[in-house]
Amino acid sequence: MRSSSSNKCVLFPCLFFACILFTISEKLVAGESDKVKLNLYYESLCPGCQVFIVNYLVKIFDSDLHTVTDLKLVPFGNAKVSDNLTVTCQHGEEECRLNAIEACAIRTWPDSKKHYSFIRCVENDTTKWESCLKNSRSEKAINDCYNSDLPKTLILGYANMTLNLKPQHKYVPWVTLNSKPLNAQSPDDFVAQICKAYKGKAALPKLCKSSAFSKSLESKVLKLQVSYADEARK
Ligand SMILES: *[C@@H]1O[C@H](CO)[C@@H](O)[C@H](O)[C@H]1NC(C)=O
Ligand SMILES: *[C@@H]1O[C@H](CO)[C@@H](O)[C@H](O)[C@H]1NC(C)=O
Ligand SMILES: *[C@@H]1O[C@H](CO)[C@@H](O)[C@H](O)[C@H]1NC(C)=O
Repeated sequence: MRSSSSNKCVLFPCLFFACILFTISEKLVAGESDKVKLNLYYESLCPGCQVFIVNYLVKIFDSDLHTVTDLKLVPFGNAKVSDNLTVTCQHGEEECRLNAIEACAIRTWPDSKKHYSFIRCVENDTTKWESCLKNSRSEKAINDCYNSDLPKTLILGYANMTLNLKPQHKYVPWVTLNSKPLNAQSPDDFVAQICKAYKGKAALPKLCKSSAFSKSLESKVLKLQVSYADEARK
């Protein structure tokens, strides 16, 4: 009797706290399925894609916006796949090579923060992409992927995702939010739209409430230079 009642005293507070902790952690972290799905369909050498990746998407990881965002990068863009499954890129062979490296980075680092940070470095200066791998423990893994047949399979997967978009993309960068084209007046708009679309239980990211963010909404409308799907090939 004695021992069982003292057991209860120990057991109940533990359960109680475990329960509180569980409830708190569930509230603080957005569930994967609650996250807002932001997909970027792009190609490595389109200038507007480079600007969007380097200067705008970074807001997701520079702030707490990443806690509610599921970012997917899809490197294919306006490339074409012929009947024999040969891929032709809008800006030539070099673009295909860079798309392949980026596909390998996404494959090697499934964590979007990690592969985004590499891809941002590549897009910031595509002539020096090799320096983005220096000092990385995954340098060999990514080079091995690049020198194998894997990129071909990965890129055909991205082709499939891009060519099956409904509605079809008209240009790149093309952004979808929860599978719908982002109706953006300016490249900044995706932040406000992620904030608006998030319906999960976690606290809204601080960025969504910050004054810096409302100021950026009032700022002048910026336009990105886009690459159209049916642009004449040079
Ligand atoms: C694939 O088809 C394209 C034209 O559609 C052609 O230029 C290319 O040589 C073909 N490649 C192979 C490996 O057959
Ligand atoms: C972009 O490239 C410039 C020049 O190479 C460099 O100074 C800068 O730090 C780079 N920025 C990023 C975000 O990688
Ligand atoms: C393309 O994607 C669809 C579903 O999204 C899948 O059923 C199909 O097998 C894929 N095709 C290729 C060639 O990957």
